[in-house]
Amino acid sequence: MLKPSATNSKSMDEIVALCKRRGFVYPASEIYGGINGFWDYGPLGVALKNNIRDDWWRNLVECPPLDADGNPLQIVGLDSAIIQNPNAWVASGHVGGFSDPMVDCHATKSRYRLDHVMVYRPREGTDVHPSYAFMEGQPDSIAKKLKKATRGRDVSELFEVVALEDLTVADYAMIVGPDTKEQGTLTEPKQFNLMFQTTVGATGGPENVAYLRPETAQGIFLSYKNVLDTMRVRMPFGIAQIGKAFRNEVTPRNFIFRSREFEQMEMEWFCHPDESEHWFSYWKQQRMQWWQSLGVESNNLTLRDHEQDELSHYSDATSDIEYCYPFTAPAFGELEGIAHRGCFDLTQHQKHSKQKLEYFDQQRNERYIPHVIEPASGLTRGVLALLCEAYTHDDQRPSKMYMKFHPRMAPIKAAVFPLVNKDGMPEVAQKLHLELRSRFTIEFDAKQSIGKRYARMDEAGTPYCFTIDGDTLNDQTVTVRHRDTLQQERIGIDHVSEFMTKNILV
Ligand code: GAP
Repeated sequence: MLKPSATNSKSMDEIVALCKRRGFVYPASEIYGGINGFWDYGPLGVALKNNIRDDWWRNLVECPPLDADGNPLQIVGLDSAIIQNPNAWVASGHVGGFSDPMVDCHATKSRYRLDHVMVYRPREGTDVHPSYAFMEGQPDSIAKKLKKATRGRDVSELFEVVALEDLTVADYAMIVGPDTKEQGTLTEPKQFNLMFQTTVGATGGPENVAYLRPETAQGIFLSYKNVLDTMRVRMPFGIAQIGKAFRNEVTPRNFIFRSREFEQMEMEWFCHPDESEHWFSYWKQQRMQWWQSLGVESNNLTLRDHEQDELSHYSDATSDIEYCYPFTAPAFGELEGIAHRGCFDLTQHQKHSKQKLEYFDQQRNERYIPHVIEPASGLTRGVLALLCEAYTHDDQRPSKMYMKFHPRMAPIKAAVFPLVNKDGMPEVAQKLHLELRSRFTIEFDAKQSIGKRYARMDEAGTPYCFTIDGDTLNDQTVTVRHRDTLQQERIGIDHVSEFMTKNILV
């Protein structure tokens, strides 16, 4: 397999700084000091997010892929409520089982997900002590904290790395927690339910507790019968939904990778149990191809099967599409899960709601609860993957970098600049801008030097800039500047629209 392209040479700090500077992502409520795990998508961020969202919807609902016989699959859309009858979450297993084990630090009041804490434990026969706990993926903080204990010696000779979850609670007395200098401050692990609670109606008692959905998938199962009864769908078919999901994550981190409010794009594919393995393979392949079609290099993606002990409560088998994020590189982190959910959800909802959710298959003359294959991707996590993928160092440019978005994903498709603000150039540029903007997102910019305007567009990832200069007024041509190659060419002003159609709608 090819090595992942240099995502490990990209710095998350630089990417986060660019996102703030250029209006991709801001911390939510920043003027009040922020709120951990919540983010606002700025003007360029929401445009990028909408481009991914619209492409997913188009690829699955409006123009679904073809089956082995060349016929389009049948997939319909849905937009279900975020708050549902709380019994639905009992049936789905989320009230009882959707929890993460966590440990608290009673010195700092911090809370950590047990499976995210690693411990540097002194090897036998060494003179170092005690053990030090760290959150996974924080190499800088490890080096800093161990500096005193190692006194210049090799960390790996002195310490072995073990997962906190593999230690006993008795070992905790020897451990210095991730954010403290004291020993023995970590508490025994407890289960913590990730669903956000709210109350419905004015009285607000415990009998009115409801939940913000932790996945969009359940809304699909709840509407399954209505879709079946009202639309002309027949097995196999899919129901797709995009929307917000909420999880009170114990340790939100890595920028927008793990947030408490995020967006998902999920499709439940209902099929005959005997065909479920075929469709499981089919969707794994389709989904990998889709991420590549958005400009993600194939060597930055991998498909990983879950181990038995990793499977969610509902799943018979799951494969994750993983991306090589800068903070996981050279390893990979989850981008999308493709789960074989069997008949778990419909069976549970049939039992708890006492409504028949079986399907009568006329062709087979058979009644059954369909099996479900679920490609579930994170839309906001997709935004992060595309931001990381696009970030490209280039010392030759004033901005020292540019965002190499696939043209279809770029938030701004082209910019139109008058070279100077005189001699009729602004008027010609404005006319071109007005002509293009009904079909493409176009930026018109007449301020600052042309170099600074190019630099801004490099940071926004705009594939093309059209400049109106002195020659335009004589020969009706404009300069096209190509973002990736920095090449410039002249084309007729009348051909700009055609140029855009050819180069953007690819
Ligand atoms: N319906 C199945 C389901 O929700 P999941 O693996 O928990 O499965 C699907 O979530 C996708 O949603 C993940 O692959 C990830 O991209 C995204 N996701 C999950 N939790 C997230 C979080 N806290 N922040 C951002 N994205 C998240």
